[in-house]
Formats: sequence, C-alpha cells, structure tokens
Amino acid sequence: MLGLLIGLLAVVIILLYLFGTRTFSYWAKRGVKHDVPVPFFGNAKRQFLQEISFADIYAETYRKYPNERFVGYYLTTTPLLVLRDPELAKHVLVSDFNYFSSRNVFPLDKHPEPLLKNLIMCEGDLWKFLRQRMTPAFTTGKVKAMFPLIVARAEKLQRVAGDAAASGAEVDVRDLMARYTTDFIGACGFGIDTDTLSDKNNMFRKLGQRIFRQELRDMIVAIIKYNVPKLMTRFHFLAPEIEKTMTKLVKTIMKERDYKNSGRNDFIDSLLDLKEQGKMIGESLMRKKADGTPCMVEMEMDDELLVAQVFMFFAAGFETSSAVTSYALHELAHHPDHQRRCQEEIDSVLARHDNKVSYEALKEMKFLHMCFSEAMRIFPSIGFLQRMCVKPYTIPGTDITVDPGVNVIVPVKALHLDPQYFPDPEEFRPERFHPDNVSAINKYTYLPFGTGPRACIGERLGYMQSLAGLAALLSQFSVAPSISTLRKPIIDTKVFGIQSAKGGLPLTLIARKKTQ
Ligand code: HEM
Ligand SMILES: *[C@@H]1O[C@H](CO)[C@@H](O)[C@H](O)[C@H]1NC(C)=O
Repeated sequence: MLGLLIGLLAVVIILLYLFGTRTFSYWAKRGVKHDVPVPFFGNAKRQFLQEISFADIYAETYRKYPNERFVGYYLTTTPLLVLRDPELAKHVLVSDFNYFSSRNVFPLDKHPEPLLKNLIMCEGDLWKFLRQRMTPAFTTGKVKAMFPLIVARAEKLQRVAGDAAASGAEVDVRDLMARYTTDFIGACGFGIDTDTLSDKNNMFRKLGQRIFRQELRDMIVAIIKYNVPKLMTRFHFLAPEIEKTMTKLVKTIMKERDYKNSGRNDFIDSLLDLKEQGKMIGESLMRKKADGTPCMVEMEMDDELLVAQVFMFFAAGFETSSAVTSYALHELAHHPDHQRRCQEEIDSVLARHDNKVSYEALKEMKFLHMCFSEAMRIFPSIGFLQRMCVKPYTIPGTDITVDPGVNVIVPVKALHLDPQYFPDPEEFRPERFHPDNVSAINKYTYLPFGTGPRACIGERLGYMQSLAGLAALLSQFSVAPSISTLRKPIIDTKVFGIQSAKGGLPLTLIARKKTQ
C-alpha cells in the first residue's frame, strides 16, 4: 500500500517536473545562449519574488552576454528573447513591425475586459483602428491648444511648492510631481478640475494610486488568469472599484457635454469628435482574402472604447512623467552648476515672454531640454520595450526562426547605460544632448519613448508637460540634497513596468531670491 503511494507520488512529481520544464529546450534547440532555467519559474524566479525589477533583470541578462546579438530567456515557461544589437531593435520595432505588432500585456482574446481595450494594451485591427483615429488628438496643434490647462496646473505647483519650502521640511519631489501630473491628467485627459496638489486625500489621486498598487486580490486573480484564462472570466485583472469609478466618471462627463465638443480642447473633446465621425472602415492588419489582399474591417467608437481610452491616459501619462521629472530634479540637486544654468536660462526666456510659461517659451529653453533628455537616459521611466512575435520570423543574419507567441525585449535601460554608446554612463552630462552632439547618438540606443508604429503617442504632450512642471518649479525654487537623499535611488521592485524610486525622492526646496 505504502509502496503504491510512494510510486504514485513519484509519478506526480515527475509529471509536474515535465510540465514545469516542457518548453526549456526552445533556445537550446536553436543554439541561442541563455542562463539555465528552473522548473516553473524559468529564469524569472527573482522577478516573481520581487527581488529585482523586470527592467533590471533584462539589463543584467544584457550585460552577462557581451558577445551575443541576442540572448534567450524563460519568463516562467514562456520563451522570450532579449535583444542586444540596436540594429535588431530597429528591425523589430520599425522595419519588421508587421511581425511584431503586439505588445502582449494582457492578451485581449483571452481576457476581453472593457478597460483593457485601450491603445497601450490592444493589438491587431483594434490597435490599428484606435491608433489611426487617435493620432490627430496628439498633434502639436492639439498639444498647444491644451497648454493653458497645463500652465494653470504648473502655477498651482509653484504655490504648493512655496508652502513646502516655507516649512523647511524635506519634500518628496516624486510625490509632488505625481500630484502635478495627476492634476494635469484630470484637466487634459478627463476634462475636470481636480485638486490633488493641495488635497492629499483627493478621490482622483486615490484612484491613480490604486491603479498602480498591486493588492493581494490583484496578484491572486492575475496568477490564476495567466495560467487558466477560462477559469475566472467573471474576475477581471482590474479590480471592480477601478472599473466602476472610471466608467461612471467618464460617462458623467460626456453626458454633461451632451456628447458634443465643449471647446475646452481636452482629450474628452477629441474623443467626442471621433465618435461623431461614426464608423471607420479600413484594411485589416492580419486577415487576408484568398487573393492575398487585406480584408476590409469596420469598427465604431462606442462608449466602452471611449472609456478605455480615457483610462489609457491615466495608465500611460501618470507614472512615466512624474518618475522622470522628479529624477531630473534629483540630478540637478546634485549638480548645482547645471541647475544654475537652467535657472538663468529660464529667467531670461521668461523675461522675454511676459514671465509666463508658454509652449513657445519652453521651446527656447535649450539647456533644460538637454538636462531632461539626459535624465531620461539615466532613468528611463519605462526600462524595457516589449513586442510579441505574431508570425514566424527569421532573425536577420541568422537561420534562427522564432514562433508566434515569443516575446521580444528591447532592454532600454541596459542600452542607455552601456559605456559603448554613452561613455561614463552613470554620469549626468547634459552636453551629450547638445545639438552638436545629438546626431552622433544611435537612435536605437536611446529610446525613452520607444520607436516605430507603436512608439509613445503622447511623446510631445508628455515632454512638454514635464518641461512645464520643471520650468515652473526651477524658476522659483532651487533643489538640494537633504538628509535622507540617496545618491543612487533604489528601484522599487513592487512597481511593475515603470521604474520607480523606493521611498520616493526626498529633496530640500529653497525659495530663490530674485533680483529683478
Ligand atoms: C514623459 C512622459 C512619457 C514617457 C517617458 C512615455 C514613454 C512611453 C514608452 C516608452 C512607450 C512604449 C513605446 C514602445 O513600445 O515603443 C509608451 C507608449 C505609449 N504612451 Fe507614453 N510616455 C509618456 C507620456 C505619455 C502621455 C502623456 C500619454 C498620453 C495619453 C502617453 C500615451 C502612450 C500610449 C497610448 C502608448 C502606447 C502606444 C501604442 O501602443 O500604440 N504617454 N510611452
Ligand atoms: C559634446 O560632447 C563632448 C563630450 O562629452 C563635450 O566635451 C562637448 O563639450 C560637447 N559639445 C557641446 C557643444 O556641448
């Protein structure tokens, strides 16, 4: 009897082992180098135990194989390829985009959740349709039209920073910039006046925090859904409170405007314009007719899709911008000479512009641009880009073919910090981005906004909104390291996808004495 039990147990263990290692010959068979994977976890054990962030493990993999153009990896049992060669990054992100049109965050075919139908997460024809439709909402003209809304928030940022400077206490600039960004998203994305800058317990700020905080409920649902998608269709990745609040909020705003452009020039107005245009018909990205020409598909911008795009504004614009603006302040605090140069430039530009932070004024702040670009190099908000192979792809210059479903990673953080491309990479040197030097930078080694058809659609908006916050702050305050400032911030491994400093970025704010 006991013998039978032990025998059964052994069989179960062997079967489990075989299941947990079933894909582990994928890279070896193709002669692609990689670390030895462990059952079930693959190479990702430390990621799942939250000992290291995704961006850092991919960077580590990049550094470990200096002579390869790409390195194999197993994210649990799913094979994934980490690219090292910028030329290959160009193929995957730009020239061979048709093979890699998916980002594969939460595959929608398996998880048809309403809020996940947003531009960042969707794929295939829905992505193509939304991208085409939404591109006009992010042109320079649209960003300029939004600017008065941004400037009003930047001025409020100055007032709140003034209170903090007067109290003399240490300020977490990460939190300060996050509240500025939340107010910006409220005004430009949702078309409402939020007051997160002065009111710490604001409902809108809370919603923002909840979206990015992984709670136990989220982890359990995610683990089960990833492994057995069919088991839990009733449960969504996004908690019911997020879904309900978001849907109610957006629908109320659209109703208030009677589903018509209100002239406020925000994102809701752009979306309502799109809705008005009715059905869109276009060529399918993947589906082909018997003669090889693309099928025609049609789609309509319904309420559900509109709500998902507003949600996207939150998901894409919030942490990205606050992470990098606060990091720029952190570097300037440690480089008083660069900081002074930024301030002198801001003062002289603003003097010529009626002392108002406008779109045109920001364009003239060349050194601030350089500092911001350099901050994004050392601390890119998004440390890696991801694409999924959607049809069999032979890697250029090899006879290795990867299959649909394999994720490809462009390890942005590793490229930005590779001494081969940026000498003394840990050093903050804005002159790398001087117009005379910028042309020497290989485009595919510097990717803070990604590139190709799926690059950041909000680049111009995010860039200018970030600069507006920095210019407003530095025109009235100086930043300096304080008691709890760490020279090199520690990356919070609990935050997924975005690089975030653990414990924030504490600095001292000092009001400037201006002579004018
Ligand atoms: C400084 C601020 C920002 C940074 C650093 C940033 C960075 C990025 C990066 C790295 C990507 C991935 C690109 C790729 O995979 O090639 C991305 C995608 C995206 N970003 Fe941004 N972003 C910022 C602000 C914004 C803002 C304000 C919006 C406005 C809503 C936005 C909307 C999006 C969207 C929709 C995508 C997905 C595009 C697609 O898949 O077609 N981002 N962003
Ligand atoms: C270009 O970069 C080099 C090396 O970092 C630097 O010495 C030089 O001053 C830069 N050029 C400008 C115009 O800033």
